[in-house]
Amino acid sequence: MFLLQRSWTEMELLPLVCFCLLTCSGTTFGDEVTKMILKENEDVILPCSLDSTNIKSETFDWKKDDQKEVFMYQNGKLYNNGLSGQDPQFKGRVFHFDDQLQSGNASIFINKTKVSDNGRYSCIFPHHQPRTRSIIELIVDCILKDRTKENKPGSCPKPSVTNLDETDDWALLQCEVQGAFPEPEVQWLDSDNNRVHDVEQQVTQSEGKFNIILNATVKKSDVYRCVSTQEEICHQVDQKIKVTLQGAALNPVITHHEAKEGMLLQCEVRGASPKPKLVWKDGAGNILPADKPKDKGDKGIYSVILKATVTKTDNYRCVSTQEEIHHEVILRHMCLFLNQTLD
Ligand SMILES: *[C@@H]1O[C@H](CO)[C@@H](O)[C@H](O)[C@H]1NC(C)=O
Repeated sequence: MFLLQRSWTEMELLPLVCFCLLTCSGTTFGDEVTKMILKENEDVILPCSLDSTNIKSETFDWKKDDQKEVFMYQNGKLYNNGLSGQDPQFKGRVFHFDDQLQSGNASIFINKTKVSDNGRYSCIFPHHQPRTRSIIELIVDCILKDRTKENKPGSCPKPSVTNLDETDDWALLQCEVQGAFPEPEVQWLDSDNNRVHDVEQQVTQSEGKFNIILNATVKKSDVYRCVSTQEEICHQVDQKIKVTLQGAALNPVITHHEAKEGMLLQCEVRGASPKPKLVWKDGAGNILPADKPKDKGDKGIYSVILKATVTKTDNYRCVSTQEEIHHEVILRHMCLFLNQTLD
């Protein structure tokens, strides 16, 4: 007996956006992120493993922010020992555990973390499915020193932030650091300390000091932080700005998982303001029994998740309502159950 289940999702408001999932194989795609927070100069072990199979003759690769090469192991060869291509930032600072390879352990050790090690690390087994076996969000906090006790000349201006432009769906934020020395690294972070990647930076110098402008386009309501870091003098300063996008609830996301009995549908709205009310409805418009919604709110911005289990073929809808602003979004999700006997 083999149960073949099919389902697809479509957004009613955007008829051109149709995203189809033809099979639900039940595989999880390792996109769960583990957050690790530490202070600079501390050592860290980033965990990763391939079940418990011997990986001595396998290949695994650790990347930072999907681009920087952190560590690669290939059938006994590694960086500085048969392989090249490691990012200079990690040279001589990253080690694997050779005696643990036979039990599938691909964890790495990073010596003396720095603020610039902040980022997302993924552990990839290129010849296995799923390829990504571990994702770690590493947050290295800078230790603030009392600058008045330092003799190094430096200037650490606080960033100034403004909201340059905004629609219902996005905002363009500007961060400006004027007259800094040494040259700071400037970043935009969201309230979970995730880096905003959609940025444009402009650096100019005058009288030996640096002026930096970093513009970021953001697409969810949140409190964003512009952080300026000057590692040489170990100085980190930041400035916050709150963004409330009216169209934020325009982006609910539906996911589904095979459950013991039927399919578990999950509707999630992130970063909405005001707080949305979610309901699941079937094709006839009946409200489905659902778990109590889980919500998380901070500074007037909410994320809400609502789950319901369904067992028959129907056209299900997740309706998100923000009464205060007369805003309703309907996301349709067709679930089709096909029972087939395959010998
Ligand atoms: C992998 O090895 C490291 C270092 O010995 C250890 O700390 C970690 O717990 C191991 N992980 C697993 C899953 O065994």
